[in-house]
Amino acid sequence: MSEPDLTPLLDLLPELLAGRPLVVLTGAGISAESGLPTFRGPGGMWEGNRPEDLATPEAFESDPEKVWRFYAWRLEKLRGARPNEGHLALARMERILPRMTLVTQNVDGLHAAAGSRNLLELHGTLLVARCTKCARRSPAPEGPVPPLPVCICGGLLRPDVVWFGEPLAPETWEAAVRAAEECAVFFVVGTSSVVAPASSLALLAARGGAYVFEINPKETPIAPLAAGVFRASATKVLPAIAKALVRTIP
Ligand code: APR
Repeated sequence: MSEPDLTPLLDLLPELLAGRPLVVLTGAGISAESGLPTFRGPGGMWEGNRPEDLATPEAFESDPEKVWRFYAWRLEKLRGARPNEGHLALARMERILPRMTLVTQNVDGLHAAAGSRNLLELHGTLLVARCTKCARRSPAPEGPVPPLPVCICGGLLRPDVVWFGEPLAPETWEAAVRAAEECAVFFVVGTSSVVAPASSLALLAARGGAYVFEINPKETPIAPLAAGVFRASATKVLPAIAKALVRTIP
C-alpha cells in the first residue's frame, strides 16, 4: 500500500521536534478501525437514533433505563476493542515531541490505553459512572441493564460523559483552548467537526497562526481553513507522520 504524501507537512516537522507545540484533536473516526461505530453517516450511532433520546439530561430524566441500555451496549463493544495503529502512532509522537497535547471528543479510553498521557478528554469517559445524588465516581457497570446501576449512597448512577446541552468541564476546556491558541500545528483527525465547542478549536488555532491539517477520508467544514488535507484513514496517515518525525530527528 502506498504511503500518503506528507509534502505539505514535511517542512514543519523540524520545528515540532525543536519544541514548537503540536495539538491533535480527535473524534470518533480514529476509533472506527478499532471496531467502534462513529456517530454520523451510514452505520453511525445516530442513524435511526435521535441524540435527544439517548444523550441528553432530559432523556436520562425521563427514561434512565433506555439511556443506560445504550451505554451498556457501547461499553460491551468497547470491552472487545483495542487501540489501533492511529492511536499508537499518536502515543509514539508524544514520546518524540517536546510539546504535544492530544484533545479528544472520544469517551472510549483508547488514547490512554495506547499510552497517550498529555490527554484532554473533552466529553468525559464511558469507563466511569457518576452518582446523580452525591457525585461520587465509580467504575462503569459491567453487564446488561436493567438493573439500573446505583451508587453506594443509593443514588442513581449516570455515565460520566458530557451530554448535549451540558457544559464541558471548565478546566479541561480552558486547557484545550490555551493549547489551541498557542500551537504551531493543529491536526484534526476523524471528526465531522459539527459539534461545538470542540469544533471551534481548529478555528482558534488557525486564528492564532497555526497550520491546520485535516486527516479524514471525507471532507468536513474544517477543510477551508486547512493548510493541508490528508484524505485517508487515520491508521494510514498517523503512522506515516510518526515515521517521518523519527526520520527527521537530527
Ligand atoms: N480515519 C479518519 N477519519 C475517519 C475514519 C478513519 N478510519 N472513519 C471515519 N472517519 C471520519 C468520518 O468521515 C467523519 O467525518 O470520522 C468522522 C466521524 O464523525 P462523527 O461520527 O460526527 O464523530 P465526531 O466528530 O467524533 O462526533 C462529535 O458528536 O454525538 C457527539 O458526543 C459525540 O463526541 C461526539 C461528537
